[in-house]
Amino acid sequence: MNVNADTRACLLYCRPGLENDCAAEVSDRANDLDIPGWCRTGNGYVEFHPSTPDGLTELARAVRFTTLVFPRQWCGVIARCDDLTPSDRASPLAAAVAGVCSHIGALRVEHADSMEARPLARLARKLHGPIANALARRGVVQDAGGPTLHVFLLTGDQALLGLSDPANASPWIGGIPRLRAPAGAPSRSTLKLEEALALFLNERERTAWLRPGRRAVDLGAAPGGWSWFMAQRGLQVDAVDNACLAATLEASPRVHHHRTDGFTFWPRQRVDWLLCDMVERPHRIAQLSADWLKTVYCRHAVVNLKLPMKKRWQAVRDHLEVLREALPLCGRLAARQLYHDREEITVFATTASLPRD
Ligand SMILES: C[S@@+](CC[C@H](N)C(=O)[O-])C[C@H]1O[C@@H](n2cnc3c(N)ncnc32)[C@H](O)[C@@H]1O
Repeated sequence: MNVNADTRACLLYCRPGLENDCAAEVSDRANDLDIPGWCRTGNGYVEFHPSTPDGLTELARAVRFTTLVFPRQWCGVIARCDDLTPSDRASPLAAAVAGVCSHIGALRVEHADSMEARPLARLARKLHGPIANALARRGVVQDAGGPTLHVFLLTGDQALLGLSDPANASPWIGGIPRLRAPAGAPSRSTLKLEEALALFLNERERTAWLRPGRRAVDLGAAPGGWSWFMAQRGLQVDAVDNACLAATLEASPRVHHHRTDGFTFWPRQRVDWLLCDMVERPHRIAQLSADWLKTVYCRHAVVNLKLPMKKRWQAVRDHLEVLREALPLCGRLAARQLYHDREEITVFATTASLPRD
C-alpha cells in the first residue's frame, strides 16, 4: 500500500452536484482569513489545500463548523492510502494513523454520498471492527476527548484518513442524521424540518421553544409535513397555502388552514415560529422572512431557500446578509444544505438569545 502522509488538506463532505458551491464557500472563508489555497473537487466531496504550512490549523481554529452552509462534515486529512488490498485493508490504515496520532475519541468509516460511492456502505460497515482492532494493536488508544478519526473510502482500495475536533464538526456519521419518516406524516418534508431543528437548536431550546401553547405560521404548508410536525408537539399552527392539506390535518384542532397567498398573510398577533417552505425565488423568501423578523411578527424562523442554477454560494451569502440585518444583536442565524434538502438550503433565525424559561 502507498501512504502519502504529506497530504495536508481540509476534506469537506457535501451533496453531489454542489461541490463547486462548497469549494466557493470554503475558499471564500479561507480568503477572509488570508489563507491562500486551492480546491480539488470529487463526487460528493471537496479537498481544500492551503498553500501555507499552518493554513489548515488556522482554518480549523478560526472557522466554526456550524457557520458553514454547504459542507455536511469536515476533517483535516492526515494521509492518503492507495493500493489497499482486499485481504487486509485495516492493518495498513492503522499503521498510517499510528504514524500521526496515538489516541482518538471515535472512529468513523465513511464514504461520499454519491451514487458511485454508495456501494461502499457495506464495506465501511464491515471494516469498522477490523480497523478498531488494528488501531488497538498499533497502540492507538480510543478514549473520550480525543479527535474523531475519519476513514473516508474513495474506492475499495483508496482512502483518505482525516481527523476532526468533535466540538467543531458534525456529530453524525458522514454528517447525515439517521431519521425515519414518522408514521402518519403527510409528506417526507417533515424530515427536513426535523433535521433542521436537531441541527440548529440545542436540547434546552427544543424543550423551551417547541411545546404546547406555542404558535407557528407555516407558509406554503401543503400537504402539511411541517404543520403536522409542529402540531404533534402541541403547537397551534396557522397553515397557509392555496393547495389542500392532508385530510388528517384539515380535521386537526391544532391546525387552522388559510387558503391564501403566503406573501400577504400576517397573523393578528406575534407568533413563536415562522416556517416557510414556499417554492419561490430565494430573494423574495429572504426578504419576506426578514420583514417578519424585523417587524417582530415571529421569534424564530425556519425558512427554506431554493437555490439558483448558478453562483449559488454568492446568492446564499447575499440572502443571509439580508436576514442577518433583520436580527437584533442578540439574535442568531445559521444555514445549512441539509441532507433532506434537495437543491436548497434551510435557514434558522432567532431573535431570542436564550430560552425564555
Ligand atoms: C414544497 S411544498 C411545501 C411542503 C410542506 N412544507 C410540507 O411539509 O408538506 C411548497 C408549497 O408552497 C406552496 N406555495 C407556493 N407559493 C405560495 C404562495 N405564494 N403562497 C402560499 N403557498 C405557496 C405550494 O402550493 C406548495 O404546496
